[in-house]
Amino acid sequence: MRLTRCASALSLAFPVERHRFVITASIEQAKRYQDLVRKINEADAAYYELDRPILTDAEYDSFYRELIELETSYPELVRTDSPTKRVAGRATETFSPVRHGVPMLSIRTETDSSSDGARNFDKRIRKELKLTDIDPPVRYRAELKFDGLALSLRYERGLLVQAATRGDGELGEDVTANVKTISEIPHRLNGKAPAAIEIRGEVYMKRSAFETFNERARASSAQTLVNPRNGAAGSLRQLDAKVTASRPLSFFAYAIGAYSGWTEPTTQTELIDALESFGFLVDAHARTAEGADALVRFHAEILSVRDSLDFDIDGVVYKVDDRALQQELGWVTREPRWAVAHKYPPEEMATTIEGIEVQVGRTGAITPVARLAPVMVGGVTVSNATLHNFDEVTRLDVRPGDRVIVRRAGDVIPQVVRVVSEEGHERRMPFVMPSACPICGSHIVREADEAVARCTGGLACKAQLQGALLHFVQRKAMNIEGLGDKLADALIAQGHVRRISDLYTVDAATLSNMERMGEKSANNLVLEIEKSKASELHRVIYALGIRHVGEATAKTLARHFGSIDALRSASLEALTQVADVGPIVAASIHEFFAQPVNLETLDALFAAGISPTVPLTQSQSAALTAASGKTFVLTGTLPTLSRDEAGALIEAAGGKVSGSVSKKTSYVVAGTEAGSKLEKARELGIEVLDEAALLALLKVAR
Ligand code: IVH
Repeated sequence: MRLTRCASALSLAFPVERHRFVITASIEQAKRYQDLVRKINEADAAYYELDRPILTDAEYDSFYRELIELETSYPELVRTDSPTKRVAGRATETFSPVRHGVPMLSIRTETDSSSDGARNFDKRIRKELKLTDIDPPVRYRAELKFDGLALSLRYERGLLVQAATRGDGELGEDVTANVKTISEIPHRLNGKAPAAIEIRGEVYMKRSAFETFNERARASSAQTLVNPRNGAAGSLRQLDAKVTASRPLSFFAYAIGAYSGWTEPTTQTELIDALESFGFLVDAHARTAEGADALVRFHAEILSVRDSLDFDIDGVVYKVDDRALQQELGWVTREPRWAVAHKYPPEEMATTIEGIEVQVGRTGAITPVARLAPVMVGGVTVSNATLHNFDEVTRLDVRPGDRVIVRRAGDVIPQVVRVVSEEGHERRMPFVMPSACPICGSHIVREADEAVARCTGGLACKAQLQGALLHFVQRKAMNIEGLGDKLADALIAQGHVRRISDLYTVDAATLSNMERMGEKSANNLVLEIEKSKASELHRVIYALGIRHVGEATAKTLARHFGSIDALRSASLEALTQVADVGPIVAASIHEFFAQPVNLETLDALFAAGISPTVPLTQSQSAALTAASGKTFVLTGTLPTLSRDEAGALIEAAGGKVSGSVSKKTSYVVAGTEAGSKLEKARELGIEVLDEAALLALLKVAR
């Protein structure tokens, strides 16, 4: 985050002595210097005041470093308004200024991003504290470095009286009204509150909240947020607190400023506990760490869970745990010596758009996709990013050849977040939405109330067919292992699969002739396909790919209707009456079964031999445990059941029926005129059931 980096650059003490010999800058260097000052000033204004960054962190860093190098070598160039002369992030005019009781510090960034970063920090601390190798390890508090916005909250006699942004560290902006709308920030502290205290922490937007916000914005063609950090910053700077209230913001507490009437905790760990007991949320990943090895482990562990967090972090922070030692170590130019930020690879990077293409999904949805010059984002190489829909392309105004910022965070697919304007770059023509599907040539239409455009080709469109096929074989659907997108593509392209049901007619010989398929994998796939014929009903329903019918709805429908036949002939009204099925879903199901092509595919699936298994009722599954694996022998005439009927009930409950009595027989079911089998059962001491007892065991009501 830039707040940290700016200030960390400040700490580079200028080696004044070196400039006793005067070396003057060339005209080019002087020009470059002016250029850098302007670029950085513009970037700062865009970043801090407008919450609309125009440079990536990496670009900003490199300009900043270049600026410092020039200033160090040629002090005569240094302008009084140089970005190095101030801490970026001045308070904007709109909110009243607030002077912090104790300045809000920055954290020095450990330059070495490898595990050495943690070791370097520990070495420095030990040196500062004059510790030798025989002294015990230093105890640290290892925390996450949240990528949000620092806030200082002033409580007097336990009541929230003022909330301020960091601003330049001395003066921040008064955002009290907005902060009061954040439910995770207590208006009153729990327990015995200090007379006055400044509590500090990070306001942020959860990744899930950010995604939901943007999905809604996209669906209604409204302005999307660039990233969660900007979402949080922008939301906090709303002049109308109602707008802030409508934005889902969260808060983690991690530090304090000025206070009075309070016995302060002696360690950072206890401080966090105190903040938690006041009623703040604190991050659960933080922990104490003894010595460098523990810091290195923490750094690696958090990196491995980074994607699964519901909030952005840009690294971890190590703090000397003992607050008395913190005092002893002190700080230099607003950066404490006792803390350091150890960064992770950035989750946003700049790259160039090589082209924009459209992808056709299984429901025909047309998604514009940016093909990118490959770039490492958050530790992964990214070469494609979604542009969501055409409104988004227009809103972002992205064009082939543009330099853009790509974000890849969590398990969400990479996205283009904005275009970086480049001086002197001649832009290409805007991307035009095709009117025909690039795969099948059918019309592309966009419903008036939808943000998504769709190909009208249905399963005649190979892209939709491929999507449908891949959906059909998915683990949650028919669970057919060994059919990936390349093979699906080839089967469709070579005409072996024209509709999904054709999957059941493809033979091992055909499969083994496909590229990268051996005999063994072909045979395995055939077995998988065969096995799938007996998939559970809800899997078959889900596999059909009916719009709006996810796994949960498929289960509901299976339970409610009990068969595909009942489902396909259900009226719209009957569908609407199913619990958890709303009108949109009901209409979509009804529409699906009104399409002749879908009915043909269904018929073909049944003709190919699929036979969905129906989930057992509760009593049936209980009988399963009583009868399953047991061997039954039937003898004599039962009062109401034929032999076949009784056998079917036993088998449905997981039991086996055998013709002769042996020691392995579990039960003999005897009716009238039972003969030798009954005698044998008595000899062997096998339990004998009559029909009523059998039905009770199988829990079948008659
Ligand atoms: S402590 C020691 N702890 O990093 C200096 N800061 O401070 C006081 N940040 O803009 C800050 N996570 O918003 C501290 N666990 C954490 C943090 C953290 C994120 C941010 C903070 C500030 C920047 C530099």
